[in-house]
Amino acid sequence: MAEKAGVFSCDNGGHSTCIVTAKSFSQFPSVKGEFRERTLVNPSGTHDYIVEFKGRRYMAGTLAQTESRFPMQMHSRSKQHLFFDLSTMISLHQFGYDKNYLITSVPISMHHEEEKEGIRKRLVGEWSIIVNGIERTFTIEDVKVAPETVSAFWIHEPEGKTRFLDIGSRTVGYGTTLKEGSVMKYIDSESGTFMGKGLEATETTNYEEFADFIAGKLLAQWDENDKVYLLGGGAKNKLIVNQLKKYFKKTEVMENAQLANAKGMYLLGRNVYGRA
Ligand SMILES: Nc1ncnc2c1ncn2[C@@H]1O[C@H](COP(=O)(O)OP(=O)(O)OP(=O)(O)O)[C@@H](O)[C@H]1O
Ligand SMILES: [Mg+2]
Repeated sequence: MAEKAGVFSCDNGGHSTCIVTAKSFSQFPSVKGEFRERTLVNPSGTHDYIVEFKGRRYMAGTLAQTESRFPMQMHSRSKQHLFFDLSTMISLHQFGYDKNYLITSVPISMHHEEEKEGIRKRLVGEWSIIVNGIERTFTIEDVKVAPETVSAFWIHEPEGKTRFLDIGSRTVGYGTTLKEGSVMKYIDSESGTFMGKGLEATETTNYEEFADFIAGKLLAQWDENDKVYLLGGGAKNKLIVNQLKKYFKKTEVMENAQLANAKGMYLLGRNVYGRA
């Protein structure tokens, strides 16, 4: 029998929506677009979504990428927007429980009370959404909003001072954690977000110069001998990784780098909710 309740981690990024629960992990493109009738209809791909939410229809995922005339990837600072709500609702429809204990993400620089409370108010409650003709009703019992980038700490909980660099589509997040025995701290003064400097925000293909820029900024605070964990989709780009290694020799790409925020958030969520 399907599980009825559980912790649901959703890293709803500008480019990809990554989810991790006790029983599954997955990702799909976050892109959304207007619904339109098509004359040529292809067999459906795994992440082709036709969505009906609050009386409106949308295309989402791989379907919006190819078929929407206005495929949108929201680059607003705040995640208090329908675009991000839809990513969460589609995820819950596809992979969620009847009752969900949600943990979701914002960039480090947006991890403040107004944003966290705003997101919580938008999402807590009972919801109904139709995806590809199938209606599901579920509740979001509670919402915890975690900081992107440093959430990856919870995967290995590394000792000492550790740096995390999260290269995404909208943002580049940089974070610092300090673990001494059982005490763990985020170091706020050595963490933050380069807003609008993500790979799609800048539309760059000059990957080495992109890495030079990021490393140049970080060297104001970080040392070349620091242990740096790379995550986010940009960690899959070898030109970026190799260039960053010239500045930070102890750079390591995390396993499943694009899913690392969601995985770390799931492990954190399990702790704060006290359940799986
Ligand atoms: N296989 C790959 N090779 C090279 N680059 C890749 C690969 N997969 C993804 N990327 C890059 O990663 C980017 C997306 O990264 P990611 O999924 O971490 O973004 P996001 O979390 O949605 O964005 P943000 O956190 O900024 O909202 C893409 O824009 C692309 O440039
Ligand atoms: Mg991201």
